[in-house]
Amino acid sequence: MNRKYRKTVIAGNWKMNKTPTQTKEFMTQLKAILPKGRWCDIALCVPAVCIPAAVRAVRETRIGIGAENCNPNPSGAYTGEIATDMLVDAGCKYVIIGHSERRAMGETDADVNAKVLAALEAGLTPIMCCGESLEQREADITNEWIAMQIKLGLQGVPEEKIRKVVIAYEPIWAIGTGKTATPEQAQEVCESIRAVVRKLYSSKNARAISILYGGSMNEKNAFELLAQPDIDGGLIGGASLVPEKFVQIIEAANQPTA
Ligand code: PGA
Repeated sequence: MNRKYRKTVIAGNWKMNKTPTQTKEFMTQLKAILPKGRWCDIALCVPAVCIPAAVRAVRETRIGIGAENCNPNPSGAYTGEIATDMLVDAGCKYVIIGHSERRAMGETDADVNAKVLAALEAGLTPIMCCGESLEQREADITNEWIAMQIKLGLQGVPEEKIRKVVIAYEPIWAIGTGKTATPEQAQEVCESIRAVVRKLYSSKNARAISILYGGSMNEKNAFELLAQPDIDGGLIGGASLVPEKFVQIIEAANQPTA
């Protein structure tokens, strides 16, 4: 982290977990133990049907609610889809875009790009995900792969909006496996992502953008991961489902930075 230049963001990704009723219970428990300090932004990205309950529950707190996907079109014949304006109207501040689980369902880099542009247009903060498979890591093409995902995902994002984008580096082999990237591995890729942003935009923008790590981040390993200079927060799946664990990760974001 480097709180001098950029925001620290601790974001939960609930995936397909919890009902609206369970959302309400979770938020009640979370609010009771939420640390008072303001050292990081807190986001919880929840299933679409849980958004109203989540938004209602976090009123007057510093937690922002997000969606886990969006459709890039403004409206129309897209059965089952949700537009960015609908998310904003429902009270969302964030939207996860290009998670590897969605890419595995067929989402392309072009889709990711269209969604990022639509989210920015609507005033949402896109949390744009990237990450390599185990095969790609073993073939030593991680940085090239990630650079390609970042370049394609950010196409057409104007200079004045790039700081609004949050990037999440999530190695596919670390998601939900309990196999976290080492702090050094995660730092190396997050640093290279910042270098890509520097080339595409400028040093100032690269310095200001928040880059998160995700993949089995939990209350035990968060401190060490967040201590890395280019890891500005976490995108947390499993551990974000348990209020105590999520709070411990938020507390790990309260450490001195360089
Ligand atoms: P995990 O998920 O923390 O359960 O590994 C992270 C994610 O997929 O965003």
